Amino acid sequence: MDSYEIFKKNINALINIDLNYYKEKQMKRRITSLVNRNGFDDFHQYFQGLKSDKFLLDQFINYLTINVSEFYRNPSQWKVLEKDILPNLIVRNKRPLKIWSSACSTGEEPYSLVMLMTKFYDLSEIKVLATDIDDGAIEKTKVGLYSEKALVNLPMEFQKQYFEKVGNSYRIKNEIKECVEFNKLDLLKDPFPNNVELIACRNVMIYFTDEAKELLYKKFHNSLGNKGVLFVGSTEQIILPERYNFRTIKTFFYGKVN
Ligand SMILES: C[S@@+](CC[C@H](N)C(=O)[O-])C[C@H]1O[C@@H](n2cnc3c(N)ncnc32)[C@H](O)[C@@H]1O
Repeated sequence: MDSYEIFKKNINALINIDLNYYKEKQMKRRITSLVNRNGFDDFHQYFQGLKSDKFLLDQFINYLTINVSEFYRNPSQWKVLEKDILPNLIVRNKRPLKIWSSACSTGEEPYSLVMLMTKFYDLSEIKVLATDIDDGAIEKTKVGLYSEKALVNLPMEFQKQYFEKVGNSYRIKNEIKECVEFNKLDLLKDPFPNNVELIACRNVMIYFTDEAKELLYKKFHNSLGNKGVLFVGSTEQIILPERYNFRTIKTFFYGKVN
C-alpha cells in the first residue's frame, strides 16, 4: 500500500472522513501542499502531527472541506427557485415546506433560503434544516457575521431588513437564525432526513468521485417526499437523471419521479 493509501486509512480511523469518496488527484494535491506548508517530509510524518496537534487537525479539516460560500450564490438560479420552483411546490403543499440545505458551510445558503421563504410564509412558519460535515463551519453560522463580499448577490431588500452592520461586517438578525436548525451530517455516511420537499446540495458534489455521486443521488431520491425537488450547484448537473428516477424541471433543478 502506498503512503497516501495508508494516510487515507488513518484519517478515516481518526476523524471518520473517507477520502476515497473525494476526487483523488485534486485531494492529494491539496493535502500535499498542506504537508509542505507545515514543514513535514511526507504523509506519515504529517499524520503523526495531526494526531498530536489540535491546531494542525483543525487546519486540515478546514482546508479539506472548502467552506467558500455566499448569499444567493449564482443569483439567476435563485430567481428560478423563486419564480418557477417554489410556487409549484407550495401549491401542492399547503403547509410550510420541509427544506434541507445539505452542505450548508457557514450558513449563507440556509439563511438565503429562509429569507427567500419570507416571500411566501411568515417567519414563524419557516424551518430550514442545515447540515455540514464540518463542525467549525457550523460554529460560524451561530456567530452569523459575514463580509460585504458574501452579500453582493443578496437582494438589497433582504440586506436592509435582516442584517446589521458591525464594523466592516454584517451580522444576520436572530429572527432569521431562529428559523434554521444546524446539525453535523456526513453526506456519504450518515442517514438522511425523510419527506423533504426541497434539498439544496450545491458546490460539494464537484469534489466527489462518480461512485460517491451515484450513492448520493440515490440517497437524495429516498430522502425526498413525493415530487420533491433537488437543487444542485452550477457545475453539478446530473448526467441522465432518469437513471436515478429524477427528471429535469429546469437546469440545476431535478424533480423526484415515483
Ligand atoms: C464549497 S462549500 C458549499 C457551500 C454552499 N452549499 C454553497 O453552495 O455556497 C462545500 C461544503 O461541503 C461540505 N462537505 C464536504 N464534504 C462533505 C460531506 N461528506 N458531507 C457533508 N458536507 C460536506 C464542506 O464542509 C463545505 O462546507
